[in-house]
Amino acid sequence: MSRQIQVFSDAQPLAQAAVQTWSELAKTAINARGGFHVALSGGSTPKKLYTLLAEQCDPALLSKTHFYFGDERSVAPDHKDSNFRMAQQALFAPANIDEAHIHRMQGELPADEAAGNYQKILDHNLPKDEQGMGVFDLVLLGMGEDGHTASLFPGTDALTQTTQWVCANHVKKLDTWRITLTYPLINNADNVLILVSGAGKQPVLKQIFDHIPGHEHYPIEDIHPRGNLLWYLDQAAANDIIHL
Ligand code: 6PG
Repeated sequence: MSRQIQVFSDAQPLAQAAVQTWSELAKTAINARGGFHVALSGGSTPKKLYTLLAEQCDPALLSKTHFYFGDERSVAPDHKDSNFRMAQQALFAPANIDEAHIHRMQGELPADEAAGNYQKILDHNLPKDEQGMGVFDLVLLGMGEDGHTASLFPGTDALTQTTQWVCANHVKKLDTWRITLTYPLINNADNVLILVSGAGKQPVLKQIFDHIPGHEHYPIEDIHPRGNLLWYLDQAAANDIIHL
């Protein structure tokens, strides 16, 4: 695994750099295997990236891309909180992505059922390694102010999932169920790109990167892909961090 950290002045150049990285990884994967398999992150940070991808990414690359999700909320696909809806509005619709290449987590179903269905979708569509484990070309992740990523929240059962690729995860502090990819699958990716923007994320990032003694161990600290780990931070999130 290689780790690289880049800091950008604000969210716009961060998103622009992510478009460039996405395109390079897509070209490599498509040239090698004819397709590019990416898990999208939710929340607000990646929306700018998705909008720029629709505007700037070579349609020939997008047409060979399979879009998956790192996690989903337990809501219908047209709900304002749906990660699918955000990606649909920012990227899939404007870029006219083939529906057959969009692999949605069914947030409208009970989380356990949705996770079981998604396991089948992943197993059917993802490239596999020698052990039969799915391999994403790229997993996009964000980070919450509590150090969660995807829907791997502190103190939740999904953190200890060592076999399933995707699972239902009850998040007590939000009083909700989520569907999330698990560490085994995320860490089997060739590339993981973590996008973190905003001052609210700085305290957790400082504890992690500056190895503050006695800090809580955050879920995002267990993201160790077999391939490349890239952190793209804006200045607000990276402020006052020494060891970047
Ligand atoms: C979600 C995301 C989640 C997100 C972080 C950061 O469903 O909310 O997958 O892991 O990446 O919560 O969210 P922001 O980018 O909105 O700060």
